Amino acid sequence: MRLGYETPEEILNVLPLIEKYPVKNIAIHARIGKQLYNGGVNLDGFQQCVDNTKLKLYYNGDITSVAQFHKMQERFPTIDHWMIGRGLIADPFLPSMIKNNSSEYPSNKMELFSDFHDTLYAGYSESLSGATHILLKMHHLWEYFSVIFSNPHKVHKKIKKAKSIRNYEQAVREIVKEG
Ligand SMILES: Cc1cc2nc3c(=O)[nH]c(=O)nc-3n(C[C@H](O)[C@H](O)[C@H](O)COP(=O)(O)O)c2cc1C
Repeated sequence: MRLGYETPEEILNVLPLIEKYPVKNIAIHARIGKQLYNGGVNLDGFQQCVDNTKLKLYYNGDITSVAQFHKMQERFPTIDHWMIGRGLIADPFLPSMIKNNSSEYPSNKMELFSDFHDTLYAGYSESLSGATHILLKMHHLWEYFSVIFSNPHKVHKKIKKAKSIRNYEQAVREIVKEG
């Protein structure tokens, strides 16, 4: 859930209703709908939820680094579940780095990234129909993936230039090989 659509107080009317049902947990993205992804997360808004419900809450929003995770952990000491969206797509190593409390990448980073990519690519190739849809989905994901490479702009450009499945697969092989 977000905090609301128009205002971050909207959720405060909804939480008591949800409390009547056997809900295991709620992940709250600490923004309002109207914001889309603009502006910062509203941490006071999330705190209001923590203070006003017995439901188990997971924090979600803008966790993009180990340092940022620690900040959130300090800010919300009672929260013990965290959800990561874009930060994980951009850096699939982030969850393990958080768990190991380290900002160091594994030595086989590219091999692991390549497996991660191939798993997603295989899944989308199966569930989407037609090269155009698959490539569109993968091109979009590379906006996020490219940030773990030393030259994100060059990497993203190379992917965008690949207009066929064959060219796309070749481009990915080259990018991964170059690291
Ligand atoms: C491209 C994209 C697709 C998303 N699709 C879904 C979805 O299908 N269901 C959902 O509950 N949230 C979806 N979200 C929202 C994320 O789960 C998450 O709540 C949001 O991105 C905020 O977390 P973050 O700052 O860690 O990315 C999507 C977000 C993005 C950027």
